[in-house]
Amino acid sequence: MNVLEFLLLLFLVFRVLGEEAAADVVGEKEILLQFKGNVTADPRGALASWVVSGDPCRDFAGVTCSDAGFVAKILIHGAEIEGALSSSIAGLIDLQILSLFGNRFSGGVPEEYGGIGTLRKLNLSRNELSGEVPASLGDMPSLRLLDLGGNSFSGVIPGSLFKNCFRTRFVSFSHNRLSGPIPTSIANCFNLVGFNFSFNELTGGFPPEICAPPAITFIALGNNSLSGTVADKISSCRSLEFLDLGSNSFSGAAPFDLLSLTNLSYFNASFNRFQGIIPEIGTCSDRLKYIDVSGNDLSGGIDPSIANCTGLRLLDLGFNGLTGSIPPEIGSIKFLSVLRMGSNAITGTIPPELGEMEMIQVLDLHNLQLSGEIPLSLSQCQFLLELDASRNKLQGGIPETLYKLTFLQHLDLHHNALNGSIPSSLGQLIRLQFLDLSENLLTGSIPDSLGNLTLLIHFNLSYNNLSGVIPSAPAIQQFGSSAFSNNPLLCGSPLNVVCGRHRRAKVLSVTVIIAIVAAALILAGVCLITAMNRMAYKKKSWEEDILVSESTAPASTSSNIIIGKLVLFSKSLPSRYEDWEAGTKALLDKDCLIGGGSIGSVYKASFEGGVTIAVKKLETLGKIRNQEEFEQEMSRLGIIRHPNLVAFQGYYWSSSMQLILSEFVPNGSLYQHLHDPNFSSSSRGGRGQLFWARRFEIALGTARALAYLHHDCKPQVLHLNIKSTNILLGEGYEAKLCDYGLMKLLPILGSRELTKFHTAVGYVAPELASQSLRYSEKCDVYSFGIILLEIVTGRKPVESPGASEVVLLRDFVQGALDDGAASDCFDRSLRRFSEKEVIQVLKVGLICAADAPTKRPSMGEVVQFLESIRSSNP
Ligand SMILES: *[C@@H]1O[C@H](CO)[C@@H](O)[C@H](O)[C@H]1NC(C)=O
Ligand SMILES: *[C@@H]1O[C@H](CO)[C@@H](O)[C@H](O)[C@H]1NC(C)=O
Ligand SMILES: *[C@@H]1O[C@H](CO)[C@@H](O)[C@H](O)[C@H]1NC(C)=O
Ligand SMILES: *[C@@H]1O[C@H](CO)[C@@H](O)[C@H](O)[C@H]1NC(C)=O
Ligand SMILES: *[C@@H]1O[C@H](CO)[C@@H](O)[C@H](O)[C@H]1NC(C)=O
Ligand SMILES: *[C@@H]1O[C@H](CO)[C@@H](O)[C@H](O)[C@H]1NC(C)=O
Ligand SMILES: *[C@@H]1O[C@H](CO)[C@@H](O)[C@H](O)[C@H]1NC(C)=O
Ligand SMILES: *[C@@H]1O[C@H](CO)[C@@H](O)[C@H](O)[C@H]1NC(C)=O
Ligand SMILES: *[C@@H]1O[C@H](CO)[C@@H](O)[C@H](O)[C@H]1NC(C)=O
Ligand SMILES: *[C@@H]1O[C@H](CO)[C@@H](O)[C@H](O)[C@H]1NC(C)=O
Repeated sequence: MNVLEFLLLLFLVFRVLGEEAAADVVGEKEILLQFKGNVTADPRGALASWVVSGDPCRDFAGVTCSDAGFVAKILIHGAEIEGALSSSIAGLIDLQILSLFGNRFSGGVPEEYGGIGTLRKLNLSRNELSGEVPASLGDMPSLRLLDLGGNSFSGVIPGSLFKNCFRTRFVSFSHNRLSGPIPTSIANCFNLVGFNFSFNELTGGFPPEICAPPAITFIALGNNSLSGTVADKISSCRSLEFLDLGSNSFSGAAPFDLLSLTNLSYFNASFNRFQGIIPEIGTCSDRLKYIDVSGNDLSGGIDPSIANCTGLRLLDLGFNGLTGSIPPEIGSIKFLSVLRMGSNAITGTIPPELGEMEMIQVLDLHNLQLSGEIPLSLSQCQFLLELDASRNKLQGGIPETLYKLTFLQHLDLHHNALNGSIPSSLGQLIRLQFLDLSENLLTGSIPDSLGNLTLLIHFNLSYNNLSGVIPSAPAIQQFGSSAFSNNPLLCGSPLNVVCGRHRRAKVLSVTVIIAIVAAALILAGVCLITAMNRMAYKKKSWEEDILVSESTAPASTSSNIIIGKLVLFSKSLPSRYEDWEAGTKALLDKDCLIGGGSIGSVYKASFEGGVTIAVKKLETLGKIRNQEEFEQEMSRLGIIRHPNLVAFQGYYWSSSMQLILSEFVPNGSLYQHLHDPNFSSSSRGGRGQLFWARRFEIALGTARALAYLHHDCKPQVLHLNIKSTNILLGEGYEAKLCDYGLMKLLPILGSRELTKFHTAVGYVAPELASQSLRYSEKCDVYSFGIILLEIVTGRKPVESPGASEVVLLRDFVQGALDDGAASDCFDRSLRRFSEKEVIQVLKVGLICAADAPTKRPSMGEVVQFLESIRSSNP
C-alpha cells in the first residue's frame, strides 16, 4: 500500500466516522431531552432551549460539543432546577464535564454514571441529592475532579470509590452527612492534590495513607468527629499548603512541626483536644498566613519564636491554658491583622510593642490576668476594628488618644480596674457599634459626645462610679437603665433616680414654688404672693439652676413660707420664672378648680405660649412615709408614656404639701359626659356627643392603656382606682386614663373605710372588700368591666332609685341579658350603633366583672376581644 492509498483509506474512515457522528447527535439529543424529561421544575427556564427541533450543539443552553460534534460539557449552574438526575446521561459518548452546581436535583446519583469513561469533572455540589455515594463512581478512569459537596449524602464513603483514582486530583464531599472512617484506599489516588471532607460526621482516626499521594497540598477535615493523634501521621505530607483539622476530637500533640513546611499557608487545629506546649519555631515559612489553635488544652508559655512567622495575618491562641506573658516580639509581625489570645491564664502587661502592628484589625485579649495600663501606643493601630481587653485587671485611665482609632467598631474594656473619667474624645469614634466599659472604677460624668455614637448596638457603663446626669441623646438612652445601673451618683432618665441634688437638675426657683404652693393652698391673698415674689425676685434667686430644698428658706420675717422641691419630667414645660408666675397666678382663680376626688383637688394652670397643665393637690399620703419614697414613686411614673394615659409631668414636694403635675386633658371626664346634667348643655359635652363609635373607642383606648400598664411596664403598674371620673377625654374624644400607679397614695384601704374613701364603690372588686386585701391586676379588670357596662347603659355602677332600693349595674345588666332583653338596658341616647356589637361589649363587661378573679381575662386578652368585635362587625 502506497502513501496515497493509505491517505485515501484514512479519508474514507473519517468520512464514515463523521456520518456516524451526525447520526449520534440525533441520539444525543434524545438523551438530553430525556434528561430534561426528568426535570420537574425549571423556574428560570434554564432548559427552555432544549427542544426537539433544536440542535444540541448549537441551540441547547449550557451544552458544549467537541469538534467531532459530540456533547462534551453540560454546565448548568444556580438555575434552581428540580427533579431527578436522569441515568440517560450515561449514554453520551464523549461527555467530559458534568457540572450542575447550585440546583435542586434530588434523589440519588444513578449507578450508570460510573460508566461514563470519558468524564473528567463531575460537579454536583449544592443540590439536594441524598442516599449513599455510589461506589461505581470509582469506576471512572478519567475522573480528575469529583464534587458532591453541599448535599445530603449519608452512609460511609465507599472504599472502592478510590480503587481506580489514579488521575483524580480533587475530591469534595463537604457539607453532607457522611459517617464512618476515611477510606485508606485514598492512598491509591497517586495524583491527588486535595480533598475536602469537612462538615460531615466522619469518625475514626487520621489515616497516615493520606500522605501517600506525593503532591497532596490541601486537606480539609474540619467539623467532623475524627479522633486520635495526628502529629505522628502527617509529617510526611511535605507539600501541604492548607490543613484544616478544626472542630474534631483529635488529641495528643498538635502537628506544630508542619509550621516549618515551605509552602504551608493555612494551619487550623482549633477546637480539638490537642495538648502540650507550643514548641519553639525555628524556621517558619513566610507563606504561612493563618495559625488557629484556639479551643484546645495547650499549656506553657508563648514562645517568642512565633514571631519568626513573619508573614502571619492571623494568630489565634484563644481558649487554651497558656501561661506566661505576651511576648513583645509579636509586635514585629508587621502584617498581622488578627491577634486573639483571650481566655488563657496569661499574666503580665500588654506590651507597648503591640502598637507597632500597623495592619492589626482585631486585638482580642479578653479574660486573661493582665495588669498595668492600656499602652498609649495602641492608639497607633489606625486600622483597628475590634479591641477587647475585657475581664482583666487593667488599671489606670482609658487613653485619651483612643479617638485616633477611627475605624474602631468594637471596644470592650468591661470588668477591669480602670479609673479616671471617660474621655470625651471617645465620642469621635463614630463607627463604634459596641462599647462596654461596665464593671470598672470610672468616675466623672458621661460625656455628651457619646450621644454622637449613633451606630451603637451594645452600650454599657454599669457598675462604675460615674456621676451627674445621663446625657439625653437617644443613641445612649435607648439601652435602658441596666446600661447605667450601679453608679450611685448617676441620675436622670433612663435611671429612676431624679437629679435632685445636682446643679443641672431642672429645679425651679424659690419664688415659683412659693407662687404655686400659695396658689394651691388658696389661703394666702394675692398681696402676700406678690410681696414674696418681689422679695425673691430682687434677690435674683429665680435662676434656673438654683437648687430648691427645704433647708433654703428665703429671708422672711413675716410668714411661715413653705419651701419645697419641684421636679419637672417634661421638657415642654416652661422653666422661666416669668412663665410660672403668670401660669400659677391662675391657680388663685376658683374657676380653675377642675375636679376633686379620693386623692385630692385638681387645678388647671395655663402659661403664656399655650401650655396648660393640671395640678393635683394631694390630700393624703396613703402609705407613703417620706419624701424619698414619694420621689421614687413619682419618678417611676414619670417615664410612662402611652397615647391613652395622661402623662405625669412633674411633682412638688414639701413636708406639708405635695402636688402632682400632669398633662391637661381638655374635654372633661367620661363621668361628666355620661352623668353630669350641666355638662350636657354645652355643645361639646353630654351623652348625645358620645355616639357608639366614640364610646367604643373610649373603651378600647382605656383597655389598651391598662394593658400597657399591666404587661409592658416593668415593674407592673396597677391602677386600683379606675372609675369614669378618671377616664378623661381628649380633643377627639379619645380616652386618657389618669391617676394610675398612685396606689401607695390612695387612702389606706380597709373594709370599713372602703366606702368612705372610695366614692366609686361600685367599681371595687369583691376581693378587695374582704378582709384579705389582695391587690392584683385582676382588680383593675373588674373595674374596667364595670366601665364597659357604664359606657353602654349610661347608668352609674350603683343607683338607688328609691330610698331603700339599691341597684347594682352588674346585676341589672346580667338580668336583662338573662331575660333576652339586652336592648332594654342600652343607654337611650345611644346613637348609630349595631346591636350585635353593643351586646358583645356588654358580655365582655360581664366576663371582666366576674366574681372570681381567676375567671376574669387579662387586659391583654380584653384588648384582643374588643379588637375582634370591631373587626368582625366592620
Ligand atoms: C426519568 O424519566 C423516565 C421517563 O419518563 C422514567 O422512566 C424514569 O423513571 C425517570 N427517572 C427518575 C429517576 O425519576
Ligand atoms: C463546582 O462548581 C462550582 C461552581 O462553579 C465551583 O464554585 C466549585 O469550586 C466547583 N467545585 C470544585 C471542587 O472545583
Ligand atoms: C470545602 O467545601 C465547602 C463547600 O462544600 C466550602 O464551604 C469550604 O470552604 C471548603 N473548604 C475549603 C477549605 O475550601
Ligand atoms: C463547626 O464547629 C464549630 C466549633 O465547634 C462550631 O461552632 C460550628 O457551629 C460548627 N459548624 C457546623 C456547621 O456544624
Ligand atoms: C512549593 O510550591 C512551589 C510552587 O509554588 C513548588 O514549586 C514547590 O515544589 C512546592 N514545594 C513543595 C515541597 O511541595
Ligand atoms: C478554624 O476552624 C474553626 C472551626 O472549624 C473555624 O471556626 C475557624 O474560623 C477556623 N479559623 C480560621 C482562621 O479560618
Ligand atoms: C526564630 O526565633 C528565635 C527566637 O526569637 C531566634 O533566636 C531565631 O534566630 C529565629 N530563627 C530564625 C530562622 O529566624
Ligand atoms: C488611678 O489608679 C492609679 C493606680 O492604680 C493611680 O495612680 C491614679 O492616681 C488613679 N487615677 C485617678 C484619676 O484616680
Ligand atoms: C457631634 O458631632 C458633631 C459633628 O461631627 C460635632 O459638631 C459635635 O460637636 C459633636 N457633639 C459632641 C457633643 O461632641
Ligand atoms: C450591663 O452590664 C451589666 C453587668 O454585667 C448587666 O447586668 C446588664 O444587663 C448590662 N446591660 C446592658 C444594656 O447591656
